[in-house]
Order: sequence, then structure tokens, then C-alpha cells
Amino acid sequence: MEVCLEAIHLTKRFPLSSRQARERGISSRELTAVDDVSFQVERGEIYALLGPNGAGKTTCLRMVSSLISPTSGEIKIDGKTLTKESDSLRGKIGFLTSELKLDPFFSPSYTFSFLATLYGLSEEESKRRKREVFARFGIDGFSETRIKDLSTGMKQKASLAMSVVADPELIVYDEPTNGLDIVASRDVEDFIREEKSSGKAIVISTHIFSLVDKLADRVGFLIDGKLVLEESVGELVARYGSVEEAFFSLYGGRK
Ligand SMILES: Nc1ncnc2c1ncn2[C@@H]1O[C@H](COP(=O)(O)OP(=O)(O)O)[C@@H](O)[C@H]1O
Ligand SMILES: [Mg+2]
Repeated sequence: MEVCLEAIHLTKRFPLSSRQARERGISSRELTAVDDVSFQVERGEIYALLGPNGAGKTTCLRMVSSLISPTSGEIKIDGKTLTKESDSLRGKIGFLTSELKLDPFFSPSYTFSFLATLYGLSEEESKRRKREVFARFGIDGFSETRIKDLSTGMKQKASLAMSVVADPELIVYDEPTNGLDIVASRDVEDFIREEKSSGKAIVISTHIFSLVDKLADRVGFLIDGKLVLEESVGELVARYGSVEEAFFSLYGGRK
């Protein structure tokens, strides 16, 4: 298969104030959140970064989406290096994270049109795409409601819709089912599967083992900023029974 995303020796260090360093009990004024992480994601593949809180998952995915730049290392999409300036490449990425909130005072419809303009879609394309995406998520009924007045499930649908405004080739979802009830979680999983079968490259982060079992083709275990293992999910399940068993058999003794 064809490689879409290459993360090459990604490292991210954050400067810490002396107070932050003291609170963390470290003498260094720098925190290495992501430490020399490399992985690839192919089209039609779902790759999961799995790890405990603070492992560096969000930081990794923020770099992959060009929201922050790596301290060192490189990200390539379709063989081209991603920089903050590479607008055409950023249009290929659909990003979803719990920190990236939609403006509560705008409606889904307005937000969609606004993003479509940013991505350079013509008015015609924008309208067509909106019809298509809103129908997919069943948003039509509340497309003019202010986002603050939507239920959590509806908000999640709106966020998913906004992540695919420009029909991205790479989908990057940080903890996509966090805080959702079982029905909304299932909707998200189904959507990710659909995107996979349409040939998108998908990378998700999660701390939920069962989501990896159900959804991912390959998994990378991220611990303390390091990618300690990368393996096909089928392989791990065959050998250990489940991804959770594999994780604790191999790394349960750490921390
Ligand atoms: N902007 C920042 N400044 C300082 N430290 C940060 C910043 N963002 C994340 N960190 C730290 O980097 C580490 C990894 O965080 P994160 O990527 O959010 O992990 P995860 O998503 O796996 O829970 C944590 O110790 C976190 O506190
Ligand atoms: Mg996180």
C-alpha cells in the first residue's frame, strides 16, 4: 500500500518555568514530551498511538497536524515535508482534538462555510460538500443552531463534520471517543471505518485498549514520549489475546 504520513524522528521539548520544573520534581528546565518517535501510516490503514496520560500522544498528533512544530525531526505527507507554511498540505489533514473547540456562538452551517473558505473551496464546492457531509452526519436538523445549544453527541457530530470539510487524505483524531456515550462513540467508530474503506490514512490516539482492538490495524505503544513497540493489532491479539494483555505483559512493570 501507499504511504501517506511519515513521522520521522519527531522530538518535542517544552521549556518549563522554574515553578513547573519544581512541581514535576525535575532539575531540568525542559521537558521532553516526545522523544525520537518515527512511524508511518498508509492509505486505507488505521494506526493507533496508545499510551497512558502524559505519554505524549496529543503532542505527537499536534505536530503531525502542523499545529505545533517539532523541536527536531520531520513530517512528510505524500512524500512532501510539512511546515507551518505548507497550506496545500495542511488542507489534506483533517484534525480533531478535545482542545480544538468550535466557536460556541456560531452554527454548524456557518462554521462549515467559514472553514471551506479558509481551505479555498469555491462557494459552489462548499455548498455541495456541506450538503454531502451534513447528510452523512444527520446534522441538517440543527445546522442553524448555535453550537453552544447542541448536545454533546450533536457537538461531536459537528466536530467530525468540520474535520472533513476539505475531504482530507489524512485523518488525525486525538482521543476521538473521549467523553462520549456509547451511541456517540459507536458513530465515531463507524465513521472512522468508513473513511478507512474510502482509502484515507488514519491516525488516532487513545488510552482505551478496546478501541485499538476494535478499530486499529497497527498500534504504537507510547510511554514517556518514546515509541516502545509497534505491531499489527492482529499479531498482538493472536499472541497475547488482546492489546491490553500485550501492553501489560510487556510494559506493566514500568512506572
Ligand atoms: N505546552 C506544554 N508545555 C509544557 N509541557 C507540556 C505542554 N504540552 C504538553 N506538555 C507535557 O508533555 C507531556 C505529554 O503531554 P501530552 O502530549 O498531552 O500527553 P498525552 O496526550 O499522552 O496525555 C506531559 O508531561 C505534558 O504535561
Ligand atoms: Mg492527550
